[in-house]
Amino acid sequence: MSRKIWVFDTTLRDGEQVPGAKLNLYEKVEIAQQLKKLGVDIIEAGFPASSQGDFDAVKAVAQKVGHNSNMMITALARAVKDDIDSVYNAVKYANNPMIHMVLGTSDIHVEKKFSKSKDQILQIGVDAVKYAKTLLPQVQYSTEDASRSDFEYLWKTIEAVMKAGATMINVPDTVGYAEPEQWGEMIAKLNDRMKNLDDSVLLSVHCHNDLGMATANTLAAIKNGADKVEVTMNGIGERAGNAALEEVVMAIKTRGDVYDVFTDINTKEIMNTSRLVSSFMGLDVQVNKAITGDNAFAHSSGIHQDGLLKSRDAYEIVHPEDVGLDDMELVLTARSGRHAVKNALSKLGFDDFAEEEFEGIFENFLKLADSKKEVYNHDLYVIVENYYEKTE
Ligand code: KIV
Ligand code: ZN
Repeated sequence: MSRKIWVFDTTLRDGEQVPGAKLNLYEKVEIAQQLKKLGVDIIEAGFPASSQGDFDAVKAVAQKVGHNSNMMITALARAVKDDIDSVYNAVKYANNPMIHMVLGTSDIHVEKKFSKSKDQILQIGVDAVKYAKTLLPQVQYSTEDASRSDFEYLWKTIEAVMKAGATMINVPDTVGYAEPEQWGEMIAKLNDRMKNLDDSVLLSVHCHNDLGMATANTLAAIKNGADKVEVTMNGIGERAGNAALEEVVMAIKTRGDVYDVFTDINTKEIMNTSRLVSSFMGLDVQVNKAITGDNAFAHSSGIHQDGLLKSRDAYEIVHPEDVGLDDMELVLTARSGRHAVKNALSKLGFDDFAEEEFEGIFENFLKLADSKKEVYNHDLYVIVENYYEKTE
């Protein structure tokens, strides 16, 4: 039976860590409303201990977006009491609040960042979980830099924090170092041990894109038993960003033959969400970005345009309608053929040309197309008008 994958959206926390992308309270609440429409299971609304402004914004999201739904609202804390209190005081207004805490497990973090022993760090983590559990029943523990951690120490930490009451374990590839095959094997091993210990605890992954493999690593984790994915809209996030929500979700939907899982995402809200995030954060989406880029459903080669007009399946694996767009876009350029030009003209109402008339118009189209990057609808009107003026 198909397995549900939980979608944890961290656009408002990891996504907001992009330099210059800071949101005000109103913008955060608006994006959170849209994420709710999109159908994410969990919103990470911020890092309340970082500033009063962020605390207020997380609180507003919990009050206005999380009050009348079962969608979880969480926020990030380091494994220290003040941070945990801050998260609790901001998210407690939601119907279904959760505390998310993070503490490193790699030698680099334990020894260089914290200058502590592994046993000391493990104890800090366990004590923090026990404290958080006195405040809320739902607590997620993130083992920062998991992909560069000693596996047995990573497991020892996960086992200890699960016994202390953590309800979700998030395994981050903090610096985008993971490689899909190795990462998948590691997730399979963790999943095995976790399910033996307590199968009600969710195993989650959080992948960064430093080597361009965040989506591939997230999907490898799903294949190997991960229950939950942490993602952002348009893949924004620290440095090269996080796994993109739209890529992971549409890969699952499109390749059901490989991933026997589903999400509760309403994919028709993907473009609306992408545009809202892009505009509020002032971050343009790269034109060739998978799923949400301007060119993701635009076809410019004449051979492709001809094929698409005969059968959309020829060059379209994701239907634009499924992500909330009206239709595919055939871009008219010097590479476009007669079929695409005829189709564009017919959409403008010009559809009963004699063969030789169309040939004359097509010739004029090619002349214009050779002199500019793209031929638009207003150019087509002029081409048709000029053709008839000259032949009259
Ligand atoms: O990349 C990371 O490790 C994080 C954690 C806070 C989950 O963002
Ligand atoms: Zn991160």
